[in-house]
Amino acid sequence: MPRRKLPLSKVYAVLESGPVVLVTTARRGRPNVMALSWLTMMDFEPPLIGLVMSDRNHSFAALKATRECVLNVPTIEIADNAVACGNASGARVDKFAAFGLTPLSASQVRAPLIRECPVNIECRVTDMRMVRRYDLFVLQAVAAWKVSGSGELKTLHHLGGDRFMVAGPVVRLRSKAK
Ligand SMILES: Cc1cc2nc3c(=O)[nH]c(=O)nc-3n(C[C@H](O)[C@H](O)[C@H](O)COP(=O)(O)O)c2cc1C
Repeated sequence: MPRRKLPLSKVYAVLESGPVVLVTTARRGRPNVMALSWLTMMDFEPPLIGLVMSDRNHSFAALKATRECVLNVPTIEIADNAVACGNASGARVDKFAAFGLTPLSASQVRAPLIRECPVNIECRVTDMRMVRRYDLFVLQAVAAWKVSGSGELKTLHHLGGDRFMVAGPVVRLRSKAK
């Protein structure tokens, strides 16, 4: 089969970096939420997570100032509203009210959990040295929650533009990975 050139601008869509998450922040008592897909695990325990958040987002200043956020993992059930959080700015819209998301108090950070997301990971920023250059924050998970009985999650994976993949069947393969 011939191989065609893949435009470099499409590389990110092949190497999708993890499920779309809803990042919540809270600054001066005002919570906000945005969709984010550029994140990667960096260590097991304590769990370290690299997250790329552009400084064009309203959430950026809140994350930088408060050094706290929650990564809420949405599933197919709330896909439309989760993606809508990536198409509106918290500077103008209360996205919780607009997109039917319920904020719940977290245990370690001021940013809220989202009730409609079955997994919530409370995080503190531990390293901002690469923010100026790459918009890359290193987070440490300090508490995590999963709704009982939520089982294998049908998470959303961004494939670029308007294309998303929904997590499918789980297979078990011989692997030495933890
Ligand atoms: C599926 C999806 C994934 C996104 N991933 C990222 C990302 O990884 N990093 C980023 O900075 N913005 C990302 N965005 C864009 C932000 O979610 C968007 O700019 C949002 O409006 C920011 O909200 P805020 O201004 O209230 O912070 C993504 C948007 C969508 C729809």
